[in-house]
Amino acid sequence: ACAAVLAIDGPGGAGKGTVSRLIAERLGWHLLDSGALYRLTAQAALKHGIALDDEPAVARLAGSLDVAFLAEDGAARVVLEGEDVSAAIRTEAMGECASRVAALAAVRQALLARQRDFQKPPGLVADGRDMGTVVFPGAALKIFLTASAEERARRRLLQLQEAGVDASLPSLLKEIQARDARDMQRAVAPLKPADDAIELDTTELSIPDVVDHIQRLLEDRS
Ligand code: C5P
Repeated sequence: ACAAVLAIDGPGGAGKGTVSRLIAERLGWHLLDSGALYRLTAQAALKHGIALDDEPAVARLAGSLDVAFLAEDGAARVVLEGEDVSAAIRTEAMGECASRVAALAAVRQALLARQRDFQKPPGLVADGRDMGTVVFPGAALKIFLTASAEERARRRLLQLQEAGVDASLPSLLKEIQARDARDMQRAVAPLKPADDAIELDTTELSIPDVVDHIQRLLEDRS
């Protein structure tokens, strides 16, 4: 575990996913979308009829997830037990289920080694809630990306509209606030900036601005 890690944490909708992917592409580094692992755990539990609050059973499932992350024609595909779940795990409802299983200590423990396996040369961009605080405390650079809840709801609405999905701003805002509250108030690995994280409010920034800014910070560190 000697490859450098860039940890990018923050609440949902702050732009972490897009920013992390773009930086990983620019640097030629590996990418860990840790939220996908929690979403996949929830998806697998629902599929196997396991209650989302059955901690030992969900943790067992998390520890033995049969999942493949594929990159084909530039599109990232996620395959769970042979089934393409790329779209299914991205719904707001699955985000909600993910945040429920993510509150279980045994589930987080079961996913720890799997996340650390992504740390390989030449480097790793790790996107999540606890990358800098728990999973990669020795990260070379820790960024905590935020944006106002209203702005995050607006961005989410645009994404959904582009995908042809109906949604309303007030209900998205409510969902975002509920998920923030659960992620920040949980006992294990709550969403909060690491002591040595650099906080970046993206409310008024474009994606390329954020990517450039983080890349400069990373260059300053190395
Ligand atoms: O980032 P994403 O929206 O895909 O994450 C879904 C949920 O998974 C989050 O709301 C959070 O509860 C959980 N999560 C987590 N720790 C991470 C990544 C995601 O608890 N490192």
